[in-house]
Amino acid sequence: MNSPLRTPWQGPMIELQQLTKVFGDTRAVNNVSFMVPRGSVFGYIGPNGAGKTTSMRILSTLELPTSGDAFIEGLSSVNDPDRVRRRLGFMPDAFGTYSDTNCAEYLDFFARSNGLVGRERTRRLRWVMDFTGLRSMSEKPINGLSKGMRQRLCLGRALIHDPSTLILDEPAAGLDPRARIDLRQIIRTLAADGKTILISSHILSELAEMCDRVGIIERGTLLANDTVAGLKGKSKPHQDLIVLIDGDPTAAMQVLSEIPTVANLEHRGQAIHFQTGVGADRRIEILHRLCDARVRVLEYRPVDESLEDLFLKVTTGQVQ
Ligand SMILES: Nc1ncnc2c1ncn2[C@@H]1O[C@H](COP(=O)(O)OP(=O)(O)O)[C@@H](O)[C@H]1O
Ligand SMILES: [Mg+2]
Repeated sequence: MNSPLRTPWQGPMIELQQLTKVFGDTRAVNNVSFMVPRGSVFGYIGPNGAGKTTSMRILSTLELPTSGDAFIEGLSSVNDPDRVRRRLGFMPDAFGTYSDTNCAEYLDFFARSNGLVGRERTRRLRWVMDFTGLRSMSEKPINGLSKGMRQRLCLGRALIHDPSTLILDEPAAGLDPRARIDLRQIIRTLAADGKTILISSHILSELAEMCDRVGIIERGTLLANDTVAGLKGKSKPHQDLIVLIDGDPTAAMQVLSEIPTVANLEHRGQAIHFQTGVGADRRIEILHRLCDARVRVLEYRPVDESLEDLFLKVTTGQVQ
C-alpha cells in the first residue's frame, strides 16, 4: 500500500518507452511508446494479433520485453516488478476455471495472496463485493456464473488491493449490450475516483465513449495516439454537413450554391448534403447566410463519420 506520507507520483501513471517484444520471427510489439496520466482512461485498440495482450503482460510484469521498458508510477516493470505489482490490478483476457470455488472464496484467496489481513481484508472484500454488485452471488460457484458476472469477479480480483492503476485486457469481449453498458459505467466510476486505466479492445466503438484517448496498434506498431474527436478531425480535410429544410429546398440550394466554400451540394427530399472546410467559422457563416435568406432551417448538423470507417482509415494509413 502507498504510504500516506509519501507525496504522490506526479508523472504519468503508465508509460511505455520504445517497448519491443520479439517472438521468433514475429515482432509482437514494435517500438511502442505512450503515456497515460493519472485518472484517465486510455483505450488500446487493434485487431487480433496486434500486440495488445503482449504489451499489457509486459506492463503487468508477466513477460519481459526484448528491448525498451514499461513503467507504472515511474517504476520499471522489468527492474522493480514487486513494487509495480502492488500498484497494479491486471484483468487478463482469459478466465481460468475454478471448480468448487465460490465468489467469496475466490476473492478471499486473492486478498490473502496480496497480503491483506484482519479488518483491512474484511473491509476490502466488502468494498469489492458491493462495488462489483456481487454480494448476492457470494456463495455461487464460479463455474455457474454468466460471462458478465465472471467479468465483474475478475475485475473485483484486480481491485482487491486497491491499486492506483488498472490494466484490463478486452473486458467487454463477449458481453451482452446491458453488461457492456454496466462495464462502461463501472470504468467511468473508477476513473472519476482517480484510478488510471488502460483498456483494450479490437472494436473502437466499444471503447470510444469511455476513453479520454485511444492508441491504435496494428502488427505491433502504434499508428495513432489521440482523442477520438482528434482522430476524426485529422482523418479528413473537410466536413460533411446536413441541412434539413422545412418546405421546398430550392431557395436553400440556391443560397448554398453561391457560397464558394460549399462543395458537393445535393439534396434528397428536404435534406441537403454538402461539404465544407473544417472549422467552426465556416459552418457559422453558412448558417447565417441561410438565415439571412429566411430559409426555414429545421436541422443543421455534421454527418458523423462511423467509428468503423475511422478505424479502417487509421489502419490503412489514411490518418496521419
Ligand atoms: N508466447 C508467444 N509466443 C509466440 N508468439 C506469440 C506469443 N504471444 C503472442 N504471440 C504473437 O504475438 C503477436 C501479438 O499477439 P497479442 O499480443 O496476443 O495480440 P492481441 O492481444 O492484440 O490480439 C501475435 O502474432 C501472436 O501470435
Ligand atoms: Mg489479446
